[in-house]
Amino acid sequence: MSDILMRDETLFKNPEVFEFDYLPDVLLHRDSQLQSMRFAILPALRGLSPLNSILIGPPATGKTSAVKFIFRELEDTDILKAYVNCNVDHTRHLILSRIFKEIFGFKPPLSGVSFAQLFEKVMKRIKEMGKPLIVALDDINALIEDRELDDTVNSLLRAGEVFEGLKIGIILVASEVDFRRMMSSRTSSILQAQEIVFPPYTRDEIRGILKRRVELGLYSGVMNDEILEKIVEETEKAGDLRLGIGMIKFSALHAERNARRKVIEEDLDFALSKSQKNIFASILSNLGKNELLILKKILEADKEVISSGELYRMISEESKMGYTTFYEHLNKLDNLRIIHMDFTGKGRRGRTRNIKLRYPREILQESFKML
Ligand SMILES: Nc1ncnc2c1ncn2[C@@H]1O[C@H](COP(=O)(O)OP(=O)(O)O)[C@@H](O)[C@H]1O
Ligand SMILES: [Mg+2]
Repeated sequence: MSDILMRDETLFKNPEVFEFDYLPDVLLHRDSQLQSMRFAILPALRGLSPLNSILIGPPATGKTSAVKFIFRELEDTDILKAYVNCNVDHTRHLILSRIFKEIFGFKPPLSGVSFAQLFEKVMKRIKEMGKPLIVALDDINALIEDRELDDTVNSLLRAGEVFEGLKIGIILVASEVDFRRMMSSRTSSILQAQEIVFPPYTRDEIRGILKRRVELGLYSGVMNDEILEKIVEETEKAGDLRLGIGMIKFSALHAERNARRKVIEEDLDFALSKSQKNIFASILSNLGKNELLILKKILEADKEVISSGELYRMISEESKMGYTTFYEHLNKLDNLRIIHMDFTGKGRRGRTRNIKLRYPREILQESFKML
Protein backbone atom coordinates (compact mmCIF):
# COMPACT_ATOMS: atom_id res chain seq x y z
CA MET A 1 0.00 0.00 0.00
CA SER A 2 1.31 3.42 -0.89
CA ASP A 3 1.99 6.04 1.74
CA ILE A 4 0.29 8.63 -0.40
CA LEU A 5 -3.34 9.33 0.27
CA MET A 6 -5.76 9.63 -2.63
CA ARG A 7 -7.80 12.78 -2.70
CA ASP A 8 -11.10 11.23 -1.63
CA GLU A 9 -9.57 8.94 0.99
CA THR A 10 -9.73 9.61 4.70
CA LEU A 11 -7.79 8.52 7.77
CA PHE A 12 -10.91 8.71 9.92
CA LYS A 13 -12.90 5.55 10.52
CA ASN A 14 -15.28 7.45 12.79
CA PRO A 15 -14.67 11.20 13.24
CA GLU A 16 -17.45 11.57 15.81
CA VAL A 17 -15.40 9.97 18.58
CA PHE A 18 -13.25 13.10 18.73
CA GLU A 19 -16.11 15.53 19.40
CA PHE A 20 -16.46 17.09 22.87
CA ASP A 21 -19.91 15.63 23.40
CA TYR A 22 -19.09 12.08 22.31
CA LEU A 23 -20.13 9.58 24.96
CA PRO A 24 -17.75 6.59 25.03
CA ASP A 25 -19.18 3.06 25.06
CA VAL A 26 -17.16 2.29 28.18
CA LEU A 27 -15.85 4.72 30.76
CA LEU A 28 -12.44 3.36 31.61
CA HIS A 29 -11.21 3.60 35.21
CA ARG A 30 -14.49 4.90 36.53
CA ASP A 31 -16.09 1.65 37.70
CA SER A 32 -16.22 2.53 41.38
CA GLN A 33 -17.67 6.00 40.70
CA LEU A 34 -20.35 4.54 38.43
CA GLN A 35 -21.15 1.91 41.05
CA SER A 36 -21.63 4.57 43.72
CA MET A 37 -23.92 6.51 41.39
CA ARG A 38 -26.01 3.42 40.66
CA PHE A 39 -26.20 2.67 44.35
CA ALA A 40 -27.66 6.14 44.99
CA ILE A 41 -30.33 5.73 42.33
CA LEU A 42 -31.22 2.12 43.06
CA PRO A 43 -33.86 2.88 45.73
CA ALA A 44 -35.85 4.82 43.11
CA LEU A 45 -36.23 1.64 41.08
CA ARG A 46 -37.86 0.03 44.11
CA GLY A 47 -40.30 2.82 44.85
CA LEU A 48 -38.14 4.41 47.54
CA SER A 49 -36.47 7.80 47.63
CA PRO A 50 -33.16 7.96 45.79
CA LEU A 51 -30.06 9.23 47.59
CA ASN A 52 -28.35 12.44 46.60
CA SER A 53 -24.78 12.57 45.42
CA ILE A 54 -22.14 15.08 44.54
CA LEU A 55 -19.44 14.35 42.00
CA ILE A 56 -16.21 16.22 42.62
CA GLY A 57 -13.11 16.42 40.45
CA PRO A 58 -11.04 18.71 38.23
CA PRO A 59 -12.06 19.37 34.61
CA ALA A 60 -11.92 16.47 32.14
CA THR A 61 -12.04 13.70 34.71
CA GLY A 62 -15.19 12.15 33.26
CA LYS A 63 -17.88 13.64 35.53
CA THR A 64 -20.23 14.76 32.77
CA SER A 65 -19.64 11.53 30.89
CA ALA A 66 -20.49 9.54 34.03
CA VAL A 67 -23.81 11.37 34.45
CA LYS A 68 -24.73 10.81 30.80
CA PHE A 69 -23.63 7.22 31.07
CA ILE A 70 -25.91 6.58 34.04
CA PHE A 71 -28.78 8.43 32.37
CA ARG A 72 -28.34 6.22 29.33
CA GLU A 73 -28.58 3.15 31.56
CA LEU A 74 -31.86 4.49 32.97
CA GLU A 75 -33.43 4.88 29.55
CA ASP A 76 -35.56 1.74 29.78
CA THR A 77 -36.73 2.36 33.33
CA ASP A 78 -39.56 4.38 34.84
CA ILE A 79 -37.23 6.98 36.23
CA LEU A 80 -37.55 10.53 34.89
CA LYS A 81 -34.29 12.32 34.24
CA ALA A 82 -33.35 15.97 33.87
CA TYR A 83 -29.83 16.98 32.91
CA VAL A 84 -28.99 20.64 33.50
CA ASN A 85 -25.77 22.27 32.32
CA CYS A 86 -25.38 25.19 34.72
CA ASN A 87 -23.02 26.96 32.32
CA VAL A 88 -26.03 27.41 30.08
CA ASP A 89 -28.84 27.52 32.65
CA HIS A 90 -27.31 29.57 35.41
CA THR A 91 -30.26 30.80 37.46
CA ARG A 92 -32.79 28.80 39.42
CA HIS A 93 -35.50 29.96 37.01
CA LEU A 94 -33.54 28.71 33.99
CA ILE A 95 -32.74 25.45 35.79
CA LEU A 96 -36.40 24.87 36.50
CA SER A 97 -37.32 25.75 32.91
CA ARG A 98 -34.93 23.04 31.76
CA ILE A 99 -36.51 20.50 34.12
CA PHE A 100 -39.95 21.61 32.84
CA LYS A 101 -38.84 20.92 29.29
CA GLU A 102 -37.60 17.44 30.19
CA ILE A 103 -40.92 16.61 31.86
CA PHE A 104 -43.39 18.22 29.44
CA GLY A 105 -41.37 17.89 26.28
CA PHE A 106 -41.65 21.59 25.42
CA LYS A 107 -40.25 24.81 26.87
CA PRO A 108 -42.28 26.94 29.28
CA PRO A 109 -42.99 30.55 28.26
CA LEU A 110 -39.87 32.67 28.70
CA SER A 111 -41.54 35.41 30.69
CA GLY A 112 -44.64 36.06 32.73
CA VAL A 113 -44.40 32.84 34.72
CA SER A 114 -42.97 33.09 38.20
CA PHE A 115 -40.62 30.56 39.69
CA ALA A 116 -43.32 29.45 42.14
CA GLN A 117 -45.86 28.86 39.36
CA LEU A 118 -43.39 26.97 37.24
CA PHE A 119 -42.34 24.91 40.22
CA GLU A 120 -45.90 23.96 41.08
CA LYS A 121 -46.65 22.94 37.49
CA VAL A 122 -43.59 20.72 37.25
CA MET A 123 -44.03 19.04 40.62
CA LYS A 124 -47.76 18.42 40.13
CA ARG A 125 -47.09 16.80 36.81
CA ILE A 126 -44.38 14.56 38.23
CA LYS A 127 -46.67 13.56 41.05
CA GLU A 128 -49.43 12.65 38.58
CA MET A 129 -47.00 10.55 36.62
CA GLY A 130 -46.08 8.75 39.83
CA LYS A 131 -42.45 8.39 38.76
CA PRO A 132 -39.25 9.29 40.56
CA LEU A 133 -37.09 12.10 39.16
CA ILE A 134 -33.31 12.37 39.06
CA VAL A 135 -32.01 15.88 38.50
CA ALA A 136 -28.36 16.35 37.58
CA LEU A 137 -26.95 19.85 37.99
CA ASP A 138 -23.69 19.79 36.07
CA ASP A 139 -20.91 22.34 36.68
CA ILE A 140 -22.50 24.04 39.67
CA ASN A 141 -19.38 26.20 39.90
CA ALA A 142 -20.91 28.21 37.10
CA LEU A 143 -23.56 29.38 39.59
CA ILE A 144 -20.92 31.10 41.64
CA GLU A 145 -22.37 34.61 41.41
CA ASP A 146 -25.43 34.18 43.58
CA ARG A 147 -27.24 31.94 45.97
CA GLU A 148 -28.86 30.20 43.02
CA LEU A 149 -27.56 26.79 44.01
CA ASP A 150 -28.83 27.00 47.55
CA ASP A 151 -32.25 28.18 46.39
CA THR A 152 -32.54 25.55 43.69
CA VAL A 153 -31.46 22.66 45.87
CA ASN A 154 -33.68 23.82 48.70
CA SER A 155 -36.73 24.03 46.45
CA LEU A 156 -36.10 20.54 45.09
CA LEU A 157 -35.62 19.14 48.58
CA ARG A 158 -38.75 20.82 49.86
CA ALA A 159 -40.82 19.53 46.95
CA GLY A 160 -40.87 16.12 48.59
CA GLU A 161 -42.53 17.59 51.66
CA VAL A 162 -45.02 19.81 49.89
CA PHE A 163 -46.07 17.30 47.25
CA GLU A 164 -46.40 14.15 49.24
CA GLY A 165 -45.00 11.00 47.70
CA LEU A 166 -42.72 12.83 45.33
CA LYS A 167 -39.33 11.16 44.98
CA ILE A 168 -36.48 13.32 43.77
CA GLY A 169 -32.79 12.51 43.70
CA ILE A 170 -30.20 15.20 43.09
CA ILE A 171 -26.80 14.74 41.49
CA LEU A 172 -24.53 17.75 41.82
CA VAL A 173 -21.35 18.04 39.77
CA ALA A 174 -18.60 20.33 41.03
CA SER A 175 -15.09 21.01 39.78
CA GLU A 176 -13.78 22.36 43.06
CA VAL A 177 -13.60 20.82 46.48
CA ASP A 178 -14.60 24.20 47.77
CA PHE A 179 -18.17 23.69 46.54
CA ARG A 180 -19.37 23.64 50.15
CA ARG A 181 -19.12 27.36 50.51
CA MET A 182 -21.64 27.66 47.68
CA MET A 183 -24.28 26.05 49.85
CA SER A 184 -25.49 26.92 53.34
CA SER A 185 -24.66 24.35 55.98
CA ARG A 186 -28.39 23.91 56.52
CA THR A 187 -28.93 22.93 52.89
CA SER A 188 -25.94 20.57 52.90
CA SER A 189 -27.16 18.84 55.99
CA ILE A 190 -30.62 18.22 54.51
CA LEU A 191 -29.09 17.17 51.20
CA GLN A 192 -26.89 14.54 52.84
CA ALA A 193 -25.13 13.90 49.55
CA GLN A 194 -22.59 11.13 49.25
CA GLU A 195 -19.37 12.51 47.81
CA ILE A 196 -18.01 10.71 44.78
CA VAL A 197 -14.49 11.74 43.88
CA PHE A 198 -13.14 11.83 40.32
CA PRO A 199 -9.34 12.03 40.65
CA PRO A 200 -7.10 13.17 37.76
CA TYR A 201 -6.10 10.35 35.43
CA THR A 202 -2.62 8.89 35.77
CA ARG A 203 -0.33 8.67 32.77
CA ASP A 204 -1.19 5.00 32.23
CA GLU A 205 -4.89 5.75 32.39
CA ILE A 206 -4.52 8.62 29.92
CA ARG A 207 -2.64 6.30 27.57
CA GLY A 208 -5.36 3.64 27.82
CA ILE A 209 -8.19 6.08 27.16
CA LEU A 210 -6.44 7.79 24.24
CA LYS A 211 -5.39 4.49 22.69
CA ARG A 212 -8.98 3.34 22.68
CA ARG A 213 -10.04 6.58 21.00
CA VAL A 214 -7.41 6.04 18.30
CA GLU A 215 -8.69 2.51 17.69
CA LEU A 216 -12.27 3.69 17.42
CA GLY A 217 -11.68 6.81 15.40
CA LEU A 218 -8.77 6.23 13.04
CA TYR A 219 -7.97 3.46 10.57
CA SER A 220 -5.35 1.05 11.83
CA GLY A 221 -1.76 2.03 11.14
CA VAL A 222 -2.52 5.75 11.00
CA MET A 223 -1.06 6.49 14.42
CA ASN A 224 1.76 4.44 15.86
CA ASP A 225 2.55 4.05 19.57
CA GLU A 226 5.52 6.36 19.44
CA ILE A 227 3.42 9.28 18.21
CA LEU A 228 0.65 8.44 20.63
CA GLU A 229 3.16 8.51 23.50
CA LYS A 230 4.10 12.09 22.61
CA ILE A 231 0.43 13.01 22.76
CA VAL A 232 0.09 11.24 26.11
CA GLU A 233 3.01 13.31 27.40
CA GLU A 234 1.42 16.62 26.38
CA THR A 235 -1.91 15.52 27.81
CA GLU A 236 -0.40 14.66 31.15
CA LYS A 237 1.46 17.96 31.23
CA ALA A 238 -1.74 19.89 30.60
CA GLY A 239 -3.73 17.67 32.96
CA ASP A 240 -6.59 17.69 30.49
CA LEU A 241 -7.75 14.65 28.55
CA ARG A 242 -9.50 16.84 26.02
CA LEU A 243 -6.13 18.12 24.85
CA GLY A 244 -5.08 14.60 23.86
CA ILE A 245 -8.36 13.75 22.18
CA GLY A 246 -8.10 16.95 20.16
CA MET A 247 -4.47 16.31 19.29
CA ILE A 248 -5.30 12.91 17.83
CA LYS A 249 -7.97 14.48 15.67
CA PHE A 250 -5.98 17.49 14.48
CA SER A 251 -2.78 15.56 13.83
CA ALA A 252 -4.69 13.13 11.62
CA LEU A 253 -6.38 16.03 9.84
CA HIS A 254 -2.99 17.61 9.25
CA ALA A 255 -1.59 14.35 7.87
CA GLU A 256 -4.63 14.03 5.65
CA ARG A 257 -4.23 17.55 4.35
CA ASN A 258 -0.65 16.69 3.45
CA ALA A 259 -1.81 13.54 1.67
CA ARG A 260 -0.10 11.16 4.07
CA ARG A 261 -1.45 7.88 5.39
CA LYS A 262 0.36 8.19 8.69
CA VAL A 263 0.63 10.80 11.38
CA ILE A 264 4.25 11.92 11.81
CA GLU A 265 5.95 14.10 14.38
CA GLU A 266 5.64 17.10 12.09
CA ASP A 267 1.87 16.99 12.53
CA LEU A 268 2.05 17.35 16.29
CA ASP A 269 2.95 21.04 16.61
CA PHE A 270 -0.05 22.01 14.57
CA ALA A 271 -2.22 19.56 16.50
CA LEU A 272 -1.11 20.87 19.88
CA SER A 273 -1.86 24.51 19.24
CA LYS A 274 -5.07 23.75 17.37
CA SER A 275 -6.31 21.52 20.17
CA GLN A 276 -5.46 24.12 22.82
CA LYS A 277 -7.35 26.81 20.90
CA ASN A 278 -10.29 24.50 20.50
CA ILE A 279 -10.50 23.84 24.24
CA PHE A 280 -10.16 27.51 25.07
CA ALA A 281 -12.81 28.58 22.64
CA SER A 282 -15.17 26.11 24.24
CA ILE A 283 -14.28 27.24 27.77
CA LEU A 284 -14.52 30.94 26.88
CA SER A 285 -17.93 30.49 25.32
CA ASN A 286 -19.16 29.34 28.73
CA LEU A 287 -17.71 32.22 30.76
CA GLY A 288 -19.65 35.17 32.12
CA LYS A 289 -18.83 38.78 31.26
CA ASN A 290 -16.90 39.36 34.50
CA GLU A 291 -14.61 36.43 33.88
CA LEU A 292 -14.05 37.49 30.29
CA LEU A 293 -13.17 40.96 31.51
CA ILE A 294 -10.63 39.55 33.97
CA LEU A 295 -8.99 37.51 31.21
CA LYS A 296 -8.97 40.47 28.86
CA LYS A 297 -7.16 42.53 31.49
CA ILE A 298 -4.60 39.80 32.15
CA LEU A 299 -3.87 39.78 28.43
CA GLU A 300 -3.67 43.56 28.30
CA ALA A 301 -1.22 43.65 31.22
CA ASP A 302 1.11 41.66 28.98
CA LYS A 303 3.27 40.39 31.85
CA GLU A 304 4.58 36.98 32.77
CA VAL A 305 3.14 37.32 36.28
CA ILE A 306 0.60 39.79 37.60
CA SER A 307 -0.50 40.21 41.21
CA SER A 308 -4.17 40.01 42.09
CA GLY A 309 -4.02 43.52 43.57
CA GLU A 310 -2.67 45.05 40.40
CA LEU A 311 -5.17 43.16 38.31
CA TYR A 312 -8.02 44.34 40.50
CA ARG A 313 -6.92 47.94 40.07
CA MET A 314 -7.00 47.54 36.30
CA ILE A 315 -10.45 46.04 36.47
CA SER A 316 -11.77 48.76 38.73
CA GLU A 317 -11.04 51.29 36.00
CA GLU A 318 -13.65 49.64 33.85
CA SER A 319 -16.09 47.88 36.16
CA LYS A 320 -17.68 48.09 39.59
CA MET A 321 -16.89 44.46 40.38
CA GLY A 322 -16.46 43.98 44.16
CA TYR A 323 -13.28 42.44 45.50
CA THR A 324 -14.97 39.28 46.79
CA THR A 325 -16.70 38.71 43.48
CA PHE A 326 -13.42 39.34 41.68
CA TYR A 327 -11.76 36.77 43.90
CA GLU A 328 -14.44 34.16 43.27
CA HIS A 329 -14.07 34.64 39.53
CA LEU A 330 -10.31 34.24 39.85
CA ASN A 331 -10.85 30.98 41.67
CA LYS A 332 -13.12 29.79 38.92
CA LEU A 333 -10.55 30.64 36.24
CA ASP A 334 -7.95 28.75 38.29
CA ASN A 335 -10.27 25.79 38.55
CA LEU A 336 -10.84 25.79 34.83
CA ARG A 337 -7.05 25.68 34.51
CA ILE A 338 -6.90 28.82 32.44
CA ILE A 339 -4.76 30.62 35.01
CA HIS A 340 -2.46 29.49 37.77
CA MET A 341 -2.39 31.21 41.15
CA ASP A 342 0.31 31.22 43.82
CA PHE A 343 0.04 32.70 47.27
CA THR A 344 2.48 35.52 47.85
CA GLY A 345 1.73 35.62 51.56
CA LYS A 346 1.38 39.40 51.25
CA GLY A 347 -1.56 41.77 51.21
CA ARG A 348 -4.82 41.89 53.07
CA ARG A 349 -5.19 38.69 55.10
CA GLY A 350 -2.41 37.22 52.98
CA ARG A 351 -4.80 36.97 50.09
CA THR A 352 -2.60 38.54 47.46
CA ARG A 353 -1.90 36.07 44.71
CA ASN A 354 0.44 35.89 41.77
CA ILE A 355 -1.42 35.08 38.60
CA LYS A 356 0.01 33.37 35.54
CA LEU A 357 -1.64 32.19 32.35
CA ARG A 358 -1.34 28.45 31.95
CA TYR A 359 -1.17 28.54 28.17
CA PRO A 360 0.63 30.73 25.66
CA ARG A 361 -0.82 34.23 25.41
CA GLU A 362 -1.31 34.04 21.63
CA ILE A 363 -3.51 31.01 22.00
CA LEU A 364 -5.81 32.81 24.36
CA GLN A 365 -5.82 35.88 22.13
CA GLU A 366 -6.79 33.81 19.12
CA SER A 367 -9.47 31.96 21.06
CA PHE A 368 -10.92 35.33 22.05
CA LYS A 369 -11.22 36.15 18.37
CA MET A 370 -13.11 32.90 17.79
CA LEU A 371 -15.86 33.99 20.21
N1 LIG B 1 -12.91 7.35 31.67
C1 LIG B 1 -13.00 7.84 30.44
N2 LIG B 1 -12.98 7.00 29.37
C2 LIG B 1 -13.09 7.52 28.13
N3 LIG B 1 -13.19 8.82 27.84
C3 LIG B 1 -13.20 9.69 28.87
C4 LIG B 1 -13.12 9.24 30.21
N4 LIG B 1 -13.15 10.32 31.03
C5 LIG B 1 -13.25 11.39 30.24
N5 LIG B 1 -13.29 11.03 28.94
C6 LIG B 1 -13.35 11.96 27.81
O1 LIG B 1 -12.70 13.15 28.19
C7 LIG B 1 -13.45 14.31 27.84
C8 LIG B 1 -13.81 15.08 29.09
O2 LIG B 1 -14.69 14.30 29.90
P1 LIG B 1 -15.93 14.94 30.69
O3 LIG B 1 -16.84 13.85 31.09
O4 LIG B 1 -16.50 16.06 29.90
O5 LIG B 1 -15.15 15.50 31.97
P2 LIG B 1 -15.65 16.51 33.10
O6 LIG B 1 -17.14 16.58 33.05
O7 LIG B 1 -15.12 15.93 34.37
O8 LIG B 1 -15.01 17.83 32.77
C9 LIG B 1 -14.66 13.79 27.08
O9 LIG B 1 -14.37 13.91 25.71
C10 LIG B 1 -14.77 12.34 27.49
O10 LIG B 1 -15.28 11.58 26.41
MG1 LIG C 1 -18.26 18.33 32.74
